[in-house]
Amino acid sequence: MNSITIKSADSVKGEIVVPGDKSISHRSIMLGAIANGVTTVRGFLRGEDNMSTMHAFRAMGVDIDDDGEMIKITGRGLYGLKEPDDVLDCGNSGTTIRLITGLLSGQSFFSVVTGDQYLRKRPMKRVVEPLTLMGAKICGRNGGTLAPLAINGGSLKGVNYNSPVSSAQIKSSLMLAGLYAEGETTVSEPSLSRDHSERMFRHFGASLKVNDNGVKVRGGFELTAQAVTVPGDISSAAFFMVAALITPNSELLIKNVGVNPSRTGVIDILKAMGGNIELLDEREVSGEPVADILVRSSRLKGIMISGTVVPRAIDEFPAVCVAASRAEGLTTIRDAKELRVKETDRITAMAVNLRRLGIDVVETEDGMDITGSEQLLGGTVDSSGDHRIAMSMSVAALVASAPITVTDIGCVATSFPTFFPLLEKVAAK
Ligand code: S3P
Repeated sequence: MNSITIKSADSVKGEIVVPGDKSISHRSIMLGAIANGVTTVRGFLRGEDNMSTMHAFRAMGVDIDDDGEMIKITGRGLYGLKEPDDVLDCGNSGTTIRLITGLLSGQSFFSVVTGDQYLRKRPMKRVVEPLTLMGAKICGRNGGTLAPLAINGGSLKGVNYNSPVSSAQIKSSLMLAGLYAEGETTVSEPSLSRDHSERMFRHFGASLKVNDNGVKVRGGFELTAQAVTVPGDISSAAFFMVAALITPNSELLIKNVGVNPSRTGVIDILKAMGGNIELLDEREVSGEPVADILVRSSRLKGIMISGTVVPRAIDEFPAVCVAASRAEGLTTIRDAKELRVKETDRITAMAVNLRRLGIDVVETEDGMDITGSEQLLGGTVDSSGDHRIAMSMSVAALVASAPITVTDIGCVATSFPTFFPLLEKVAAK
């Protein structure tokens, strides 16, 4: 179990590029694999989660070539995947297992999906239940609610599903199944989760309608291969945004970041806290909004965070918690129960870690209250095997009064293999 010890910094300065967006990278492989023709992907994130998706599709007969710069996927068409001859291992990736389970539900073959010790504890009922309504036959541990899941796919019927939670993984899983279903599949959610699937389905020519009530996919339409350029991941940029905001004398330009409005909750939150953040050169690439983000040190204040911004910032709460620990006054987070079923329980993990550094944190069922402080102590904190806990605590170390050791940091490779060298590059002493 490897660890890192990080000392405080005098400033965070320079210009960086963060790796490609994880969500978009997953979807580019999945749609490329079932489209007709050769899909090319630039800016693909070669993190462990996306490699799990790549391996799964290779195991289903898809030719995927990576020359180090560009990924080339030779699509097999909607009905061209072949039965994998072994279990598909999704590693730590919730997006891989939940989306692929939807896609496999539409295949006329048998498959089994599983993952690592963390993924095997995460809830799968949220996709198994609606996919079963569509006609999929899925069994798994604990009454079909935990992986491994065994899928006997084929013969799906469109459904009208109102998801009780805002989740792009649930929505996208049903959309992928919907490509194979008879008739239309409609998915609605309490408030909009990331809409990368909607954008990419459209890009690949799927029959799709999006309105305020959700998304509607018509089954049986072939997709056409595309050239996809993946922007930098705002979830990775968020750690550097917070690093620059809380460290004195900082000015950091993060180039080429995806700023899809369904993902920019973190910018709205940090700006509401008083963060000096500017979006420059806003443009559109492969149907996704992109910008450069300029961040300067700021005096932050505590705020209330709840409602529709929560799904728009769902992966950024560990970083937001670090910002809150340095803000003046109280930050209240509510409506964020989903954080309890991420790679780890992120409410408890952040509360335990921040308390170790002397911060007053109160946990509630669906959020937390964090009282900011000018003093953050040094010490040892643990990632709980969760990449985003590891990275957020590493950022906290930049302003702590003594070094912070973060243990179990191997997980960072799931989404951001170059995180530590990049942090070292911009954090000056
Ligand atoms: C993702 C959706 C979100 C997010 C995850 C990636 C996606 O999960 O937390 O990191 O790519 O669809 P939920 O759908 O469970 O909220």
